[in-house]
Amino acid sequence: MNGNEDFLPYNLPDISDAEIDAVVETLRSGWLAPGPRVKAFEEDFASFAGTKHAIALDSATAGMHLALLAMGIGPGDEVITTPTTFCASVNVIIHAGATPVLADVRLDDYCLDPEAVQRAITPRTKAILPVHHGGSAARMGEVQAIAKQHDLRIVEDAAHGMGTYIDGKHIGGFGDATVFSFYPTKNVTSARGGMLTTDDGELAARARLLGLHGMSNDAWDRYTERGSWAYQVLAAGYNYTMTDLQAALGHAQFRRLDDFQRRRGEIAAEFNRRFAALPELVLPIERKGSTHAWHLYVVRLRPDALTIGRDEFIVQMKERGIGTSVHFIPIHHHPYYRETYGWAPGDFPAADEAFETMVSLPLYTRMTDVAVERVASAVEDIIRGNRI
Ligand SMILES: Cc1ncc(COP(=O)(O)O)c(C=O)c1O
Repeated sequence: MNGNEDFLPYNLPDISDAEIDAVVETLRSGWLAPGPRVKAFEEDFASFAGTKHAIALDSATAGMHLALLAMGIGPGDEVITTPTTFCASVNVIIHAGATPVLADVRLDDYCLDPEAVQRAITPRTKAILPVHHGGSAARMGEVQAIAKQHDLRIVEDAAHGMGTYIDGKHIGGFGDATVFSFYPTKNVTSARGGMLTTDDGELAARARLLGLHGMSNDAWDRYTERGSWAYQVLAAGYNYTMTDLQAALGHAQFRRLDDFQRRRGEIAAEFNRRFAALPELVLPIERKGSTHAWHLYVVRLRPDALTIGRDEFIVQMKERGIGTSVHFIPIHHHPYYRETYGWAPGDFPAADEAFETMVSLPLYTRMTDVAVERVASAVEDIIRGNRI
């Protein structure tokens, strides 16, 4: 490989003229703060998710924090989540003042194992925060049943979930609140951003208030001719709103979701077809009754079938000019959580086993057929060259 020119990155955003035009038009409009474009994005998103409310925010992290606060979750409360996630899923629980409790995942889809959730429930448990890992639908039916049985709330971490369907319905209304991410690596991006969906009017009102410093009127209400300069601060809130600039980008991306998902599905199908002949790999599953968003394409290497481990596989992919990633270093492996909660590697066997062996291959809409072929051939080549 000569230099970086041929390097196939792990991920790239897909920005067309539609997004560029929408952003430029917003810049020329003179209105960058949260305003008409945010409102339009929220309206379209709510009808897409089939929920009464959609609140555009600066990130999924902000959305999950607000959802927990709006549910009144705080000190003394426990929230159950997964170790196989990004740190934000746990940090928001801590920022709400509550205690995170981890329950192990299932090895087939890296999402919460409902049986482990049951075992993790204590009298202090107030909520479950499932993650739709990689765009694979978490077992929401079982999570809902547990929540109902124990009177718990559900905040879905749908950071990976743009394009995830359960029984033909897009996720967004299966929990009390669902939070999507529009970070640049995600299936839809607003550069940075998130969307909180809910059917709960009280939760939505509280989240809106807390997301705008606790102020009674938003900027659109204060600075347009129909508005008033006056407002009251009703809570010590946060500055979590999405700007119109982000909304212009995010909304234009959102309109392309079906095309994005078609391409992601094609690439995943091609990988599945090519790797079906490699018993050394454990391939991702699409659970019956759900549609995988293919935000990530995660394979696991069978240690008993290969002379190399995951780390060496990543090195060999890199030598072939291909970027990969790992989702995720489990929560209980990170120093902060180990020191604070006494967790250690080995505490959650399925999450540990997944972590040791998993790798995420490049899968994004800008990948050409040639790039897909290149990734598939590189994987085949490495596996064939390192069989036991
Ligand atoms: C599972 C998961 N949850 C939450 C987040 C945080 O999203 P955001 O960057 O929009 O706050 C991410 C990632 O970036 C994620 O991967």
